[in-house]
Amino acid sequence: MTTSLPVNLKHAKDIHSGVDVPSLHEAVHPERTLWSATQLHELTVEVATTLATPLLDIVRFDTTERWWTRLALTMGVELWLLSWAPGQGTEPHDHGGASGAFTVTIGALHELYVHAGGPPRTADWSAGDTVAFGPQRAHQLRNTSARPAASVHAYSPPLRPVREYRALADFTGL
Ligand SMILES: [Fe+2]
Repeated sequence: MTTSLPVNLKHAKDIHSGVDVPSLHEAVHPERTLWSATQLHELTVEVATTLATPLLDIVRFDTTERWWTRLALTMGVELWLLSWAPGQGTEPHDHGGASGAFTVTIGALHELYVHAGGPPRTADWSAGDTVAFGPQRAHQLRNTSARPAASVHAYSPPLRPVREYRALADFTGL
């Protein structure tokens, strides 16, 4: 796999070999340059449901460090498969101005999140649950269960660097 797209290559897409099927080529709408949170929600649901079997073949669990692989990249969206061994999680972060969505495919994830200017909240998500959000939201995800977890994530615009915070309360918006 390449790690970046030539910016002058219109409608280009980079698809993981394990999910290189016509339905995903269609689902990533390579002509679409900016996705809404709703569209990202629809994408992670579609990928999690229609590609469940190939995702099981791709996913790996690593108890020493979090594992992830990119499933697709277009000019408008990036799509990732992440796994979470028990106890693994992220630091508090935003997505650098991107909108995002994730669907839990295996196990369960605990989320601490905040909308800019609002109070911190918590949520528990399990396989089949999907969360979508705009840029004015920061969060921290962790597998607090005793079983492995996995999830499909999509972000638009793609390749915006994640910004980490010492605490979610430090996120005051973009
Ligand atoms: Fe995130």
